Amino acid sequence: MLTKTVKIVLILAGVVIVVIIVVVPLAIHLMRRKKVDSSKASFYSEYVYSNAFCQIGCSIDPFEADPYPLIVLANTNTFLYPNPGEKILRFKVNQRVDFICPGGGVNVGSLETDNGVLTGTCKKGTSFKIKRKTLDSSEIRCRTPILRDIRATGNRCSWFDRGQELEVGFIVEDGRFLRTLSICFNQAKQLSEFTYIEQTPSINQQILGTPRPPWLQGSGIYNIKGTISNLYLKKNQRTTINRLLGLPDKSTKYIKNTGDYFLARGHLTARSDFFYAAQQNATFYMQNIAPQWQTFNSRNWNQIEADVRNYAAASGVNLHVWTGVHGITTLPHEKTGLPTQLYLFVNETSKLIPVPEIFWKAVYNPKTERGVCLIGVNNPYQETFSPICPDISKDIDWLHCDRTSQKRGFCYACNLTAIRFAMPILPRITDRGLLL
Ligand SMILES: *[C@@H]1O[C@H](CO)[C@@H](O)[C@H](O)[C@H]1NC(C)=O
Ligand SMILES: *[C@@H]1O[C@H](CO)[C@@H](O)[C@H](O)[C@H]1NC(C)=O
Ligand SMILES: *[C@@H]1O[C@H](CO)[C@@H](O)[C@H](O)[C@H]1NC(C)=O
Repeated sequence: MLTKTVKIVLILAGVVIVVIIVVVPLAIHLMRRKKVDSSKASFYSEYVYSNAFCQIGCSIDPFEADPYPLIVLANTNTFLYPNPGEKILRFKVNQRVDFICPGGGVNVGSLETDNGVLTGTCKKGTSFKIKRKTLDSSEIRCRTPILRDIRATGNRCSWFDRGQELEVGFIVEDGRFLRTLSICFNQAKQLSEFTYIEQTPSINQQILGTPRPPWLQGSGIYNIKGTISNLYLKKNQRTTINRLLGLPDKSTKYIKNTGDYFLARGHLTARSDFFYAAQQNATFYMQNIAPQWQTFNSRNWNQIEADVRNYAAASGVNLHVWTGVHGITTLPHEKTGLPTQLYLFVNETSKLIPVPEIFWKAVYNPKTERGVCLIGVNNPYQETFSPICPDISKDIDWLHCDRTSQKRGFCYACNLTAIRFAMPILPRITDRGLLL
């Protein structure tokens, strides 16, 4: 027979064990739930598994194979990404995910399908239930490279009635369009005004160094006949610019053979602003490009792009990012000395594809409703500049461009209200102050 003391000790021990096993994990679980709930707007934190209390879930290394299918939350248009700082995607048990190969079938090991979409249900580790079989996600492949698309949505860019809205992304065989990039294309200039993306904070774990795909331009978007990309070829841009300036066709006064003094195909949304290779490939559309001096492209503009990615990664929020161009840059005419606007396409009746005066990037945190616009001057021959809005770059300590370098491209920053005053083309959004 147990003594009274032993009974009490046993009961107390029981209580302690129950507290350790049930109450503590439950409390942790509830606390974490609360955290996740407060960040509903960022989908990745809701669906990605990371919880000490739940069963073991699944993981996928999305860079395991090229081309690996697009990984999308089942029946949605939502791309899934790892948590910021992580390389692999995590899933909860029984979470459903679509593996999508636009333009071809999905293979899983020996299971070869013509289906462009396979839905998997997370079991554990790398095992997913797919077509009633338990299969290993590390054996998933697309049978062919992933097909990208650009198309007109039929909308105007709402705030700008001359702009045609385009979307870039992937057509899914069930009718979904997985959009990665929106574009506001100006038919009158044959140049995009701006692009728009939601920047995942996982961006600094993106894949790098995959092969460069060819430039595409879709069909039925440009009025200019032929291949737009060819207008950017160095010998062609040299002839076009020299004729505008009254120089001999082959003059290397401005379009030089050395020192990055030529007009590059300057990405608006950068290739490395996207996480997956297929999304990166989809930035190679001429509508995502504007003529940009390489002196600026590879220096201050490159820095501005990296600064925004680093800010996004640190913020942990899906930032809204618009990237665009404004104005037309000039060089002095050889005979008259007058400032002469530069274009990449000139015929008897039209001057099209202007060389922009500035490139800009408006960055917005939709949760805090704070933002900033970062701006760079696109002309290494321009000795001075006047900002198009009050320069507040000194307040943005995460901006690391070299503000005083002519060759690198002078850079500055404005608040969103001020830039919108100078460029009414920007969407109307609540501006609660600078993104610090
Ligand atoms: C991206 O383009 C390159 C070059 O065309 C190609 O080799 C690669 O498979 C593409 N990646 C995807 C994921 O489609
Ligand atoms: C100049 O190019 C534009 C755009 O391609 C075209 O519409 C126009 O007809 C061309 N003009 C001449 C004279 O060829
Ligand atoms: C933005 O800048 C303008 C011009 O300097 C100023 O009047 C305005 O108060 C600023 N707005 C915000 C939200 O900071």
